[in-house]
Amino acid sequence: MVVPVLSEAERLKLDPSDDALFYAHPRFVQHLDGAFRLRLTDLYRQRIPAGSVVLDLMSSWVSHLPEEVAYAEVIGHGLNRQELEANPRLDRHWIQNLNRVQSLPLEDSSVDAALTVAGWQYLQFPEAVACELWRVLRPGGQWIIAFSNRMFFQKAPQVWAEASDQDHLLTVARVLIAQGWPKPELIAESTRAEGPLGWIGGKGDPFFAVIATRPTQ
Ligand SMILES: C[S@@+](CC[C@H](N)C(=O)[O-])C[C@H]1O[C@@H](n2cnc3c(N)ncnc32)[C@H](O)[C@@H]1O
Repeated sequence: MVVPVLSEAERLKLDPSDDALFYAHPRFVQHLDGAFRLRLTDLYRQRIPAGSVVLDLMSSWVSHLPEEVAYAEVIGHGLNRQELEANPRLDRHWIQNLNRVQSLPLEDSSVDAALTVAGWQYLQFPEAVACELWRVLRPGGQWIIAFSNRMFFQKAPQVWAEASDQDHLLTVARVLIAQGWPKPELIAESTRAEGPLGWIGGKGDPFFAVIATRPTQ
């Protein structure tokens, strides 16, 4: 059963038009800088065993998985067909607006690891999505939700658009725990900019992640 956490006001976005319109044209850009992406790929390397079935929820033309690791299958989801077709890591994908329909076309306990990168921030009904992730992840499976401090402001619900980095971490944790997930692991780190800027102490995009594990019992 889905347990509501956000108020109706917190779900509202500045741009309430269909998200499919906003993502109708492909954006072949990196949404996060190189320092963030290196940290994320390293986290995946540590946490996702080779041979796993991986779900990249809210994906694009890149999945940030380590190139040298082979997975049993990488299933992608997103809103733009051209981006998903261009993503070299995806074995298959589907298109679905999660702010319209939250139930996922995946079998129970069929996924070993799920990834959501710079995506949670656009969810108006994260509680229902969190219940679906519980259903599709196998016991012991992990959901890695990563984000930085930027967003398409007009498309982020008020709960995200008007909150601090710390609030973002706490909101994700609060939503998960209310749906029955055990207390997740929270990561908040600065990164070092790539190249000469980093040599003199320049910072990259800050790195935040929430790692939720479906218990084995
Ligand atoms: C900032 S991009 C991040 C893409 C990708 N995860 C990455 O790391 O580059 C946000 C992504 O969230 C997804 N997204 C946004 N709103 C969505 C919605 N209402 N339903 C489903 N997916 C959505 C789209 O796939 C979009 O590419």
